[in-house]
Amino acid sequence: MKSELNGKTILLGVSGGIAAYKTPELVRLLKKAGASVQVFMTEPAKQFVTPVTLGTVSENPVLSDVFPGNREGSWTVHIHQARRAALFIVAPATANTLAKLAHGHADNMLTTTYLALPPEVPVLIVPAMDTDMFVHPATQANLEILRGRGHVILPPDDGPLASGLSGPGRMPEPAKIAETAAGILKSEPKILAGKRVLISAGPTREPIDPVRFISNYSSGKMGFALAETAARLGAEVTLVSGPVHLSDPAGLRVIRVESALEMQKALESEFPRTDLLIMAAAVADYRVETVAGSKIKKEDSGNLELKLVKNPDILAGLGKKKKHQTLVGFALETDRIVENATRKLKEKNLDAIVLNRANEPGAGFETDTNIVKILFPDGTVTEFSKMLKKDLAGQILSVCSRVMEHNHV
Ligand code: CTP
Repeated sequence: MKSELNGKTILLGVSGGIAAYKTPELVRLLKKAGASVQVFMTEPAKQFVTPVTLGTVSENPVLSDVFPGNREGSWTVHIHQARRAALFIVAPATANTLAKLAHGHADNMLTTTYLALPPEVPVLIVPAMDTDMFVHPATQANLEILRGRGHVILPPDDGPLASGLSGPGRMPEPAKIAETAAGILKSEPKILAGKRVLISAGPTREPIDPVRFISNYSSGKMGFALAETAARLGAEVTLVSGPVHLSDPAGLRVIRVESALEMQKALESEFPRTDLLIMAAAVADYRVETVAGSKIKKEDSGNLELKLVKNPDILAGLGKKKKHQTLVGFALETDRIVENATRKLKEKNLDAIVLNRANEPGAGFETDTNIVKILFPDGTVTEFSKMLKKDLAGQILSVCSRVMEHNHV
């Protein structure tokens, strides 16, 4: 099989961690798949692997200096390198290099080239460091920034580390990195090109008083994965999200809301210019009738009774207004799951409903994986095995694209 890497120029940034000793093997695998490889090294990386080794296996002199003494007038080399890249890989990415990439430092050839990359060049970051450094909130915050920029972060393996300790931090094997790189370069058909896709995600928060609210465990991961994937598949995407700990995905419009009523307002105003609505949000069914203007004090009463009133069913309301739009809902069920989901599919006038069980390991809220079935109005059911929410997003969207074709959008 022809590799996606064949004929591509890959820039490989190597920073100074012990895992750098594995990078000659990575270069060898990329070359074997037909890529041409240009290596950039930071000075500390040279403590772990030599430029001679990486220069030899890549068949290209390694670049380290922004101002090389022997190449007068050629200090713009990083710009030219960045412009011909099909993919920029940073492996291993140390905590220090991650911080520099996240905050836009340009103090060496690797970080400077990163800043010169055209926006369409994908970036694969492979962090490797001791567990304590990896789990440190500063490192995690930097990774979140890079993820938010649309870069792919290949998580480190869990296992013995150079420090003698054990935990997450080991660089994955070169074969895994090369395989991920090939996956990124695989060109996906833009099946949603020209389509306007509206996606809701996350929980809603229903205020009780200025400091308290009612909500649920939805993490927003499924809705965000759908939004990112729809954008990658060519759609013009608007994501309406309740409060979640996820940063705005690159390349799409994000509207942040808090309550069900705010979510309803945002979705209703976007709906007329939408071709496909996917309602992945976990909307609170009830809100507090009268929100206290100041903090409720416990001495004011014995037990506290809150009167809850029903929130509007946003999806059912949009189902009634449906014209050319394709509508897809989610159903989270614990009992009589197919029966309940089928009822929701009909009552809300949907074209499909994605059904997942709340009480199955590897499914539902807060997990990275999900196990779903998709139900259609004609009674057909498509079942999927347990998979990562981001892979499932691609499968769901490909089903949606077929439904839209069928609906002649
Ligand atoms: N939904 C909505 N507005 C609500 C409640 C739910 O738009 N007030 C949407 C959800 O986003 C989801 C679908 O309706 O796409 C089904 O949500 P779910 O919580 O499974 O069902 P409910 O209709 O709320 O019914 P129940 O809570 O009784 O299971």
